[in-house]
Amino acid sequence: MSRKLLPGLPTTVPVTAVTLDNERMVTITLDAKINMEPGQFVMLWIPGIDEKPFSVLKPDPLTISIACIGPFTNKLRALKPGDKLGYRGPYGKGFKITGKKVLIVGGGCGLASVAHLATVCSGQGIETHVLAAFKTKTEAFHLETLEKAGCIMHPCTDDGSLGFKGYAAALVAELLQSNTFDQVYACGPEMMLVTTRTVLDEAKVPYQFSLERYMKCGIGICDQCSMNGQLVCQDGPVFDQTQIVKLTELGKFRRLVTGEKVSAITAPSC
Ligand SMILES: Cc1cc2nc3c(=O)[nH]c(=O)nc-3n(C[C@H](O)[C@H](O)[C@H](O)COP(=O)(O)OP(=O)(O)OC[C@H]3O[C@@H](n4cnc5c(N)ncnc54)[C@H](O)[C@@H]3O)c2cc1C
Ligand code: FES
Repeated sequence: MSRKLLPGLPTTVPVTAVTLDNERMVTITLDAKINMEPGQFVMLWIPGIDEKPFSVLKPDPLTISIACIGPFTNKLRALKPGDKLGYRGPYGKGFKITGKKVLIVGGGCGLASVAHLATVCSGQGIETHVLAAFKTKTEAFHLETLEKAGCIMHPCTDDGSLGFKGYAAALVAELLQSNTFDQVYACGPEMMLVTTRTVLDEAKVPYQFSLERYMKCGIGICDQCSMNGQLVCQDGPVFDQTQIVKLTELGKFRRLVTGEKVSAITAPSC
């Protein structure tokens, strides 16, 4: 008997492709498509192992780019076409697309969370600038794909091995000297978001950030992802500047899997 699945239950589908983008990034395509707004996320489920949140690189076919940094993501990297993977979602609030000229900032694997937004904006005829920030050139990914999608690329690396030498916030400040952006969107390491926010607040440019907190249920039940009383899984992960100003935990505290509150500065970033 076929049964309509509840939104909180995963659908298990075959993996159709697994592509290595660089030493740590892998892009996995599933035999599935979803309707979603850029910035929403899905929970990926490996039966018997775990379930974790990931942004969507492409909704049709459902494609996810993953930084392999721990037990779950390394299991994902080991998948082969034909293997089964569960997903549920899309969940959360996505980015609101607005304006005629935008800057999209992706730091490290945060670029995977804003890449879909960039292709949608560019496809809508919006002048789309993408600042892609990495520690070093060998960690870069998806630059050509985004360029082919019509985005104007601004790569930057901490060590200067590709593009601008320095942190994302410094390049945002430089770009703002010669450009007027209607909206800035960003996802990446928390310190990158905090320093970028300072630059944007000073320049009075409106912004939306996609935030990350440890998630268990992904649908507003467990309170694990709570940040100043907001649930990142349900009220976010995308927040605009009027909401971000109230998120005083940003850049200060995060929660471990146990729920324990620790300094956000110690957060590993991908
Ligand atoms: C809304 C959202 C979207 C995300 N999108 C992407 C994406 O597109 N690509 C990508 O590579 N990563 C993404 N992540 C991060 C991804 O969920 C973690 O990297 C992954 O869960 C790590 O699991 P692990 O077992 O391999 O590593 P672990 O060793 O278990 O964890 C490494 C670090 O990953 C983070 N993490 C681990 N488990 C979770 C969890 N359940 N929820 C949130 N963070 C966790 C923590 O910071 C942890 O310290 C996203 C996270 C969120 C909240
Ligand atoms: S992850 Fe459970 S409430 Fe957000």
